[in-house]
Amino acid sequence: MEVIICKTDDEMSRAAAEAVADVLNAKPNAVLGMATGSTPLGLYQQLVRMHKAGQLDFSQVTTFNLDEYVGLPVTHEQSYHRFMHENFFRHVNIPPQNVHIPSGTTRNYRAFCDWYEQRIRECGGIDVQILGIGSDGHIAFNEPASSLSSRTRLKTLAKSTIDDNARFFKSRDEVPIYAITMGVGTIMEARKILLLANGKKKADAVAQAVEGPVTSMITASALQMHPDATVYIDHEAAGKLKMREYYDWVKEKKPEAPRV
Ligand code: PGA
Repeated sequence: MEVIICKTDDEMSRAAAEAVADVLNAKPNAVLGMATGSTPLGLYQQLVRMHKAGQLDFSQVTTFNLDEYVGLPVTHEQSYHRFMHENFFRHVNIPPQNVHIPSGTTRNYRAFCDWYEQRIRECGGIDVQILGIGSDGHIAFNEPASSLSSRTRLKTLAKSTIDDNARFFKSRDEVPIYAITMGVGTIMEARKILLLANGKKKADAVAQAVEGPVTSMITASALQMHPDATVYIDHEAAGKLKMREYYDWVKEKKPEAPRV
């Protein structure tokens, strides 16, 4: 696992956007795994900026989002459909038919989840998956005690996640209790994973995910088993890492490292 500690949130977003751009430049028809939440907003702004500057073309790209709240229509202000449209899709040239976001309003969740997994396979798998991390260590909505080989499914949110996400709703009572989420096993099949985290509130979760034991109690810790996972964090989110000095040393020495 590579850990890149950035001075600011902006630097973190730029570094992660460069990594996504590298994948797209090597493979213009790449499959991107998208995340919602406040953390990846800066990354999306950077990708939009590159697109508007003529540096990134999304015309052959396919996307799969990690999760969606159950019960929110796609037009709801807090639905992840709306979030993605407002913050990313409407600013770039991804063909709408190439966009996949779990349905929060299907009448058959099990069938939908199976279809979603099948669609990912049909599209050749996810080339690069963007992730945030919850304060309880979750990735997507894989709450503590989720199986590390779980697949896309309906999940009951932890009370701490409902508390964390209440800031986006008028009241805590309006936060959905269920979501459809890719599983940890689904995420682990992505060829490359970028996990982003910022702010003090994430410092414990980041330390446990990167340096703690691999455990279903911190589902992000499964990334330790992934062959190509990079963690982009700001100073505050790095606050509890024991090996911080080493990660900075690796970053400093990277330009001089043998390339082949
Ligand atoms: P956040 O959410 O980016 O809004 O902090 C992250 C997550 O819960 O995965």
